[in-house]
Amino acid sequence: MKQLNIGIIGVGWPGQQHAKAIAALPNTRLHSCADNDPDRLNTFVKEHQPGVAFIDYHDLLHDPELEAAIVCLPNFLHFPASLTALEEGKHVLCEKPPTMNAAEMKVLRDEAAKRSLIYFFGRQFRFTPAIRTAHEIITEGRLGRIYRARATWVRSRGIPGGIGSWFTDKKCSGGGALIDIGVHALDTAWYLMGTPRPTSITAKVFRNFAHFVSVPIFDVEDEAHAFIRFANDTFVELETSWAANLTDDTPVGPEWVGRESNNAVLFGTKGTLRVKPLTLFEDQNGKLVTVPLEPRYSDNSFEMQLQNFAHAVRGERPAINDAEQAFELMEMIDGIYASNELGREVPIP
Ligand SMILES: NC(=O)c1ccc[n+]([C@@H]2O[C@H](COP(=O)([O-])OP(=O)(O)OC[C@H]3O[C@@H](n4cnc5c(N)ncnc54)[C@H](O)[C@@H]3O)[C@@H](O)[C@H]2O)c1
Repeated sequence: MKQLNIGIIGVGWPGQQHAKAIAALPNTRLHSCADNDPDRLNTFVKEHQPGVAFIDYHDLLHDPELEAAIVCLPNFLHFPASLTALEEGKHVLCEKPPTMNAAEMKVLRDEAAKRSLIYFFGRQFRFTPAIRTAHEIITEGRLGRIYRARATWVRSRGIPGGIGSWFTDKKCSGGGALIDIGVHALDTAWYLMGTPRPTSITAKVFRNFAHFVSVPIFDVEDEAHAFIRFANDTFVELETSWAANLTDDTPVGPEWVGRESNNAVLFGTKGTLRVKPLTLFEDQNGKLVTVPLEPRYSDNSFEMQLQNFAHAVRGERPAINDAEQAFELMEMIDGIYASNELGREVPIP
């Protein structure tokens, strides 16, 4: 079996998780890495031993041996790096959010299609044991028809940093809590609902807690709420925050985030499923019964994700997501910001 030659661009936390996944799989090889911070690059090279390392990611992408690139750069570089990769004939796995907006994602979608390359956005949560099990239970029909969902990722004191505090600077991040963690929560619920086509959005975002951190620029939201309608007559309610004075029914998370809840609840005609802790609330002859569920797997989600990407690149199995889904996800993010700006419900074009 020929190993898939993969290069990692950006060696922060997600870059390191992808490197560990590459090492764990027999059919993938860490061909190269790139990062413009020499100290971070050296540390990464020592630990993960790629074939070659670059300061300039364009050099990595130009290497004819490279087959696929994993983009783990700050958000504003997702588009140029992914586009260059596709133009160089490489398959792409890009960390979330896919791009800064839907217009950028449309260009990537068309470029990937033109060149018959895989574009895949990083969403390891689709592969966690609980979410894989939830997906199977839904596919088995235990919920009946899903008619609504609730998507949540809230933190009470969890404003992220990143090199140069780029997460709070809109021109580098594209947005705040919504595009950082809200996108994960939304995608989890949307995936479990079967990725229905979004049709309209009403939303409100806030910036209330910028004083919690000392950063040069804080011009993004720290909290967002949205109501998204889909073409199949369903909807999702999204709640996300980096910072808020949350009540004590929100569990205590790691020290730097304070209280935290990252969860999805899917409401169906036969039952309701909560992801954390994985539980089915099932109608049994008119009685509502609580059925605790055990996740059916224990695999590492980054490894499972990479396995799916590698199989898709080799044409052996379908990818769990694609550029069209990335485009629709970015349309929802754009729609949330547009609805907030306009103060009304907006259609998704
Ligand atoms: N999947 C997840 O759960 C998850 C978790 C954290 C972050 N992310 C995403 O991963 C991306 C990176 O986040 P992070 O937390 O690692 O940020 P970070 O700032 O810690 O790391 C980014 C890395 O990119 C490098 N870099 C910046 N500009 C560069 C350039 N022009 N050329 C080469 N290297 C450059 C930096 O030196 C740094 O090592 C973001 O898009 C973020 O949303 C995903």
